[in-house]
Amino acid sequence: MTTEQDRNRVIIFDTTLRDGEQSPGCSMNLEEKLRVAEVLEDMGVDVIEAGFPIASNGDFEAVREIAKTIQTSQVAGLARTSRKDIDRAWEALKGARRPRIHTFISTSPLHMRVKLRMEPEAVHETMVDSVRYARNLCEDVEWSPEDGSRTEHDFLCRCVESAIKAGARTINIPDTVGYAVPEEFAALIHMLFDRVPNIDKAVISVHCHNDLGLAVANSLAAIGAGARQVECTINGIGERAGNAAMEEIVMALRTRREKLGAYTGIKTEHITQASRLLSSITGFSVQPNKAIVGANAFAHESGIHQDGVLKDASTYEIMTPESVGLTRSSLVMGKHSGRHAFRSKLKDLGYELGENELEVAFGRFKDLADKKKQIFDEDLVALVGEESRAANERIRLVSLAVRCGTKGPQTAELELEVDGVRKATQATGDGPVDATFNAIHKLFPHTAQLKLYQVDAVTEGSDAQAGVTVRLEEKGKTVNGQSSDTDTVVSSCRAYLHALNKLLVKREKTAPAALGT
Ligand code: KIV
Ligand code: ZN
Repeated sequence: MTTEQDRNRVIIFDTTLRDGEQSPGCSMNLEEKLRVAEVLEDMGVDVIEAGFPIASNGDFEAVREIAKTIQTSQVAGLARTSRKDIDRAWEALKGARRPRIHTFISTSPLHMRVKLRMEPEAVHETMVDSVRYARNLCEDVEWSPEDGSRTEHDFLCRCVESAIKAGARTINIPDTVGYAVPEEFAALIHMLFDRVPNIDKAVISVHCHNDLGLAVANSLAAIGAGARQVECTINGIGERAGNAAMEEIVMALRTRREKLGAYTGIKTEHITQASRLLSSITGFSVQPNKAIVGANAFAHESGIHQDGVLKDASTYEIMTPESVGLTRSSLVMGKHSGRHAFRSKLKDLGYELGENELEVAFGRFKDLADKKKQIFDEDLVALVGEESRAANERIRLVSLAVRCGTKGPQTAELELEVDGVRKATQATGDGPVDATFNAIHKLFPHTAQLKLYQVDAVTEGSDAQAGVTVRLEEKGKTVNGQSSDTDTVVSSCRAYLHALNKLLVKREKTAPAALGT
C-alpha cells in the first residue's frame, strides 16, 4: 500500500553523465564517469542516466561498465526511436541490476516539421513502436516527448496516453529549450493529470533546461503540480545554459519541506564532494556565488552578518554548511604524516583508492609536502583528481624544464611519452607557458585551438598549488583539461595534456542525428 509519505517522495534522476556530459568541454573518460557514478550512487541517486550508447563506442563502454558496477541505483541509457538505437542501449544496459531504457522523440510542431520532417501521425506511430520494442527488452522504459513544453496539448496528451499503453512506466516532460516559466509549466503538468486517462499508471517526470535561469524553479513548480521524478545534474551542467541543478532542487525540498511537501532520498551531506569531484574532472569551476556549492554560499563578509552568525548561525544561514557536507577548510597533514593517516583522511574526503593508486598518490603527497608547508583538504582533492586521471592518458609528461625571467628567450625543454614512446624537444615562446605549449605542439602536432587558459590558487599563500584550466577546441568539439601543482608551468603543461588526451577520446564521438536509422 502506498502511504501519503511514499506519494510525496521525488525520484532523483541524475543526467550528469548524459545531458551534462553533452555540454561543451564537459566530456569525461570511462574511468572518470565511473567515479562520478559511484559518488552518485553513494549519495542516494535513484536513477543514473549513464550515457547515450549509440553516440560512440566510448559512450557504449561507459554505460556498460557503469551498468555492471552500480548496485543500488537504477542505470538508464538514452536511445532515439530506431531499433538500432534501442538495441545498442539494451546491449549496454543488460548487465545492470536495475536497467532502464530511456527513449525519446520530438513532438513540438517546430521540431517535427524542421528537425524530423515527419507528420505528427508518423511521430506517434514511431513512438508507440519504439516504446513497445524497448519494453520487450527491458521492464523499465521511460519515454520523453522532446520539446514537450512547446508541444500542442491535444497531441501531447494523446502521445502520453499511447506511450503508457505501450508500456512506458515513466513519462518525462522536457522543457528542452528552457522556455517555460514556472506557473505555465505547473499548469502543463496539471493539464496532463486532468486529461490523460491512464496517467496514474506512470510516474510523471520533468527535465528542465536553464536558458532563462528557471530550470530549478520550473522543476519545483512541476513537483507542486504532481511530478514525482526530476531530471537534473550536479552543478547544473548541461547543454547550453545547463540543466536543473540537483543540489538546488534537493536542498530546496529539504529546507522548505513544510511549504513544498515533497522530499528526496538524497544524502545531502555528499553534495559538496560530488560537486568538487565533477569540477575537478571537467575543469568547470563553480561560480563563487552559486547556490549551495559556490565558494561563498556559506561565507559572511559584512560585519553585521558576521556578528549575527556568531550569535546564532540561523540569523543568516537557512541551512547548515554541514548539511551539504561542507567542513571548514582544515589543515590536514604535514610531511611527517604516514600512509595510514593519509588513507584515512582520503576516506573522510570520500576517496577510497586501491593499493597501487594509494601508493602513487602517497608518493605525490610526500613530494607536495616537501614543497608546501601546509596541506589542506583542497590540496588532497586536487592531488587525487590528478592521480586517477593520469592513469588512462595516451600522452604523458615525463619531464619539463623551463628558462624564464627578464633575459629571454623563454625556453621549454620537454619530454613526453606518446603511446608508450618517449620523445623530447625544445621550444621558445612568449613566456614559459607559451614556450611549453609550443613544445607540446612540436611533439604532438594538432590543430586544436586554445580557447581558455585560467590559473587559480587552490589554497592561500605563495606556496599554494596553481589550479590550471585549459580549454581546447577542434572542429566544434570542446574539451577542458585541469591540473594542479605548486609549479604553475608544470600545472599548465599537465592541464594542456589533460585536454589533449580528452580530445583524442572525443574525436571518435559523432553527434547523433535527430532520428536513428
Ligand atoms: O532536453 C531534452 O529534451 C533531453 C531529452 C533527450 C530528454 O535531453
Ligand atoms: Zn536535456
